Amino acid sequence: MSVIGCGYLGAVHAAAMASIGHDVIGIDVDERKAAALADGIAPFFEPRLEELLREGIAAGRLRFSTRMADAEGATVHFLAVGTPQQPGAHAADLRFVDAAVEALLPHLRADDVLAGKSTVPVGTAARLADRVAAAGATLVWNPEFLREGWAVHDTLTPDRIVVGATEGDAGARAVDVLRDVYRPAVDAGTPFLVTDLATAELVKGAANAFLATKISFINAMAEIAEAAGADVRLLADAIGHDTRIGRRYLGSGIGFGGGCLPKDIRAFAARAEELGRGEAVGFLHEVDAINLRRRDRAVQLVVDALGGRVFGRRVAVLGAAFKPFSDDIRDSPALDVAVRLRGLGADVVVTDPAAIDNASAAHPQLGYARDRDDALRDADAVVIVTEWDEYRRHLSPEHAGALVRGRVVIDGRNCLDAGAWRAAGWTYHGMGTR
Ligand code: UDX
Repeated sequence: MSVIGCGYLGAVHAAAMASIGHDVIGIDVDERKAAALADGIAPFFEPRLEELLREGIAAGRLRFSTRMADAEGATVHFLAVGTPQQPGAHAADLRFVDAAVEALLPHLRADDVLAGKSTVPVGTAARLADRVAAAGATLVWNPEFLREGWAVHDTLTPDRIVVGATEGDAGARAVDVLRDVYRPAVDAGTPFLVTDLATAELVKGAANAFLATKISFINAMAEIAEAAGADVRLLADAIGHDTRIGRRYLGSGIGFGGGCLPKDIRAFAARAEELGRGEAVGFLHEVDAINLRRRDRAVQLVVDALGGRVFGRRVAVLGAAFKPFSDDIRDSPALDVAVRLRGLGADVVVTDPAAIDNASAAHPQLGYARDRDDALRDADAVVIVTEWDEYRRHLSPEHAGALVRGRVVIDGRNCLDAGAWRAAGWTYHGMGTR
């Protein structure tokens, strides 16, 4: 098989498919990325990925290339290129999808299957299907639901596999091909859902919209809890016991970021508007607005905690990645908070176990410390913006208290034991907690 586009999605997919016995060629236009992957080096932080890369390469089942012609000979091609937000608009930019398909078409052979994995606006697959069919091949849509930090796990043991196909023999045959590709997961009982193309594309958008809504819902409750003197964490525990609601993904704090949820809900709403159904997902604008308000709130909490005098004050920012177990800083709420505090004149020192290199390249104006304790030293306030175990579990309030100048902590992820920090003499502020 070939995997076209070796970013988060493609690199992990290629390595995971090789690990279950397939013969895989990963293709990416970025020479440095392809070369690193061919050397068994992951261009980003992802648990278990390098292990799988090295095993696959050593076994001769995994190669990387920059030449689309190397896709020839593969019978299944996965399309895993990025679909970023268009500059200055909310819609998805399909430039890479179109370019990849265009470049692949001359190399497709009769009966090949092209499986789209990229997150695309509904209708994209139908638009591409005829062109792929003209080459004698068949397009299916096979959305991906992996989470960064769990990407290998989610790819090898997904909670469902969705394949959208056209009606008729070619579509049915292509679905069978994908069922074979995912044989270990299918045999293990993973639900395998066959849909039409449009439904498969929508499943991905709908899943991300629901997840984003769940986070913004609890963050909206945090706003109310704060005004009412209630505690959103206890509230989440209590409503989460209702299995219809569920406790997962009800983590309150500074909200969601990353390379998927923010851009995907915007693209989803933009596509709904194009379809004349903008009002059906009007709430997604609110979901986005609630989410962005949380960052303002975290900054305000720091300002208030410093008595309104921010200029020149030292603030230790614990976290830069958009979530733990990742070095990804795309649309990171953590870094956004750091940048805004710097903009108010604070002497910001950011630390993170994995994302310092990415963060300092993107925001050289911020101060950085690789060592957590160096970041804490002499701080007038501490703000936790990514809930790494290094801060959540392994940082004792006594230890931190001995390093800082002011025992003021703003818990932007509602992840600390407020009682323990207060008992150690800290002024603790959560986001809608008591
Ligand atoms: C997400 C989806 O989970 C995945 O299914 C989809 O394919 C891609 O987008 P990912 O971006 O890797 O995956 O991260 P995820 O773990 O979902 O977290 C997204 C953001 O939401 C992070 O910034 C995280 O900190 C935040 N989050 C998550 C919360 O604020 N509260 C929560 O309870 C969970």
